[in-house]
Amino acid sequence: MKNILIIQGGGRAKGNTAQLINAFVTGAKEVGHSAEVISLIKNEVKGCLGCNACRYGKPCIQKDAFNEIVPKIKNADCIVFASPLYFWTVSSRIKAFIERFYCIAEKDSNPPVGRYEKYPIKDCALLMTSADNFFWTFEQAVFYYQFALVNYIGFKDKGMILAGGCGDTNGKPQIDKTDYLEKAYIFGKNLYS
Ligand SMILES: Cc1cc2nc3c(=O)[nH]c(=O)nc-3n(C[C@H](O)[C@H](O)[C@H](O)COP(=O)(O)O)c2cc1C
Repeated sequence: MKNILIIQGGGRAKGNTAQLINAFVTGAKEVGHSAEVISLIKNEVKGCLGCNACRYGKPCIQKDAFNEIVPKIKNADCIVFASPLYFWTVSSRIKAFIERFYCIAEKDSNPPVGRYEKYPIKDCALLMTSADNFFWTFEQAVFYYQFALVNYIGFKDKGMILAGGCGDTNGKPQIDKTDYLEKAYIFGKNLYS
């Protein structure tokens, strides 16, 4: 059974994103995986300072939640990035969290073209919600996920749930009126089947 770490990059406490995560976690746990959700609202992770004090193997000098999350990243088989769509991409909290991967990089004497260091090899997935539901709604978010996490860091994509049309934040969460909770539950259940 797999160890799944879900990074919740914001959203309302009982909002669309939280509900999408819950459905995914229910499915994953039902088939015996362990699944832990870490909220970046409750656990603040700031963006990288670029000071390079961390190179290589030393903890980041910033005193926030990231250093406590590092062992969980290392233990995880799959890291799930969950976020509401904010200004057509992932939340700034998710972006800040990914920047801090800089301090878990290891030296690579023979890196592939375009990468300069080694990262832990993990599976990854993306869970997102949005108000709009155009064919291009998640384009920037998906591009960033694929470019930064899959192509650059080298994570293995296990898939994504892009829940468009969940209502804006002026009103109540509407995800329960879509079929995305069911889709996320099935996705969680079938992640490794
Ligand atoms: C700051 C902010 C920016 C947003 N930007 C977009 C956007 O670019 N496109 C979109 O479709 N919805 C946008 N939304 C709507 C949310 O993505 C959507 O309502 C989401 O499901 C809210 O998640 P939550 O219920 O987990 O808080 C935005 C909401 C906020 C608060």
